[in-house]
Amino acid sequence: MFKAPRGTADILPGEQAYWQYIEDKAVSVCQLYGYQRIDTPAFEDAGLFTRSVGEGTDIVNKEMYIFKDRSDNELALRPEGTASVCRAYLEHGMDNLPQPMKLYYFADIFRYERPQAGRYRQHHQFGCEAIGEASPMLDAEVIQMALGFFRSLGLTQFTLQLNSIGCKQCRPDYLQKLKDYYAPLTPSLCDDCRARLAKNPLRLLDCKKPGCQAAAEGAPRNSEYLCKDCHDHFDALKTYLEALEIEYGINHRLVRGLDYYTKTVFEIQPLEGGSQSALGGGGRYDDLISELGGKSTPAIGFATGMERIVLNLKNQGIEAPEQVKPAVFIACMGNSAKIVALKTASDLREAGISVIVAAGDRSLKAQLRQANSVGATYAVIIGDDEIKEGMVTLRNMLTSDQQVVDPEELKRILGPQE
Ligand code: HAM
Repeated sequence: MFKAPRGTADILPGEQAYWQYIEDKAVSVCQLYGYQRIDTPAFEDAGLFTRSVGEGTDIVNKEMYIFKDRSDNELALRPEGTASVCRAYLEHGMDNLPQPMKLYYFADIFRYERPQAGRYRQHHQFGCEAIGEASPMLDAEVIQMALGFFRSLGLTQFTLQLNSIGCKQCRPDYLQKLKDYYAPLTPSLCDDCRARLAKNPLRLLDCKKPGCQAAAEGAPRNSEYLCKDCHDHFDALKTYLEALEIEYGINHRLVRGLDYYTKTVFEIQPLEGGSQSALGGGGRYDDLISELGGKSTPAIGFATGMERIVLNLKNQGIEAPEQVKPAVFIACMGNSAKIVALKTASDLREAGISVIVAAGDRSLKAQLRQANSVGATYAVIIGDDEIKEGMVTLRNMLTSDQQVVDPEELKRILGPQE
């Protein structure tokens, strides 16, 4: 028997209420903030991600699903959504439209990670990107939107962590400070971090290995080495967040796992669940569009994992609203009844009433049991007696009350009540 590949999951009908709930809230919040939907392909040129997410990152080095197609093109299943949206922004000349371009997406994301609770090899993100505006007002708005989205779902048990990782002016100096700090501590670092120290020292700050965590404790703080522009930006953002009464914590070790970030980075962490389990995260990426061949274009965005949201909804005891159940179940016995059942179902559906018809030859009792289990409000019963009289029996599944009615009357009885 085949099984779903390790790290992937089927989203079964019983789970779909959560997904629908999350998607509906996401769309509502995007409409409130003026975001438009975009969908991009599940795979892209691998180079798009190598260039944007960065060669020194785990996502590119260890986790990307990369393959050659039959024409020898090197492709990758998308390991995140931002680079694809930026590629589409440039490819379709969206830089000529009024800025910022505010875009949102739902996308399946592929990362070859070690699967655990809330961590999959294929997961699903809801993300948004606001491209073409440098003001920290937009940073505050994106953060407010992310938090508003989680709150609209009923989630309350989370914190906002904030940091600034500077820009290409001030970062080289800070990276040198980091290298100087770590140089004497190399023996206590893990193998990965020893290799990262030369190429990508920022990554050392968020390594989860105990030795590296201890070493990171006393590391120089990025926010203390910002240039004036980055410093003012960070200050203004904090002022706006305070004005919006948004609580935040500064996390000096928050660097994010993707290389394209500049200035603001943030994460939303559940109160319980450890540091591997961010509900969502994002930040500014003011150099990405130009690195992909466009003109210099500031941008900021955010994404959240749908599976993580479902997990947090369940942990916090929040149930998704029930999905719509069929209004009517039609039970039928005998060949003539089958034809009447099919016709009655068509009539009712045309009137916008949802119907499930029992197919096959099960007993009336078994058919009514099915009506119950699908949650139908009414059963319409058609047997030999009903056929003879040209009538049907209408049974209220909640009260078990039954009445014999003219099939023509069903639409009036079951349809929307004025
Ligand atoms: P990210 O932090 O890598 O950022 O992923 C965003 C969110 O996706 C995470 O906070 C988490 O909720 C979820 N997530 C990540 N990996 C997994 C996984 N293996 N299984 C389940 N859920 C996962 C980005 O991808 C950026 N593109 C976000 C962004 C948008 N930055 C700017 N704009």
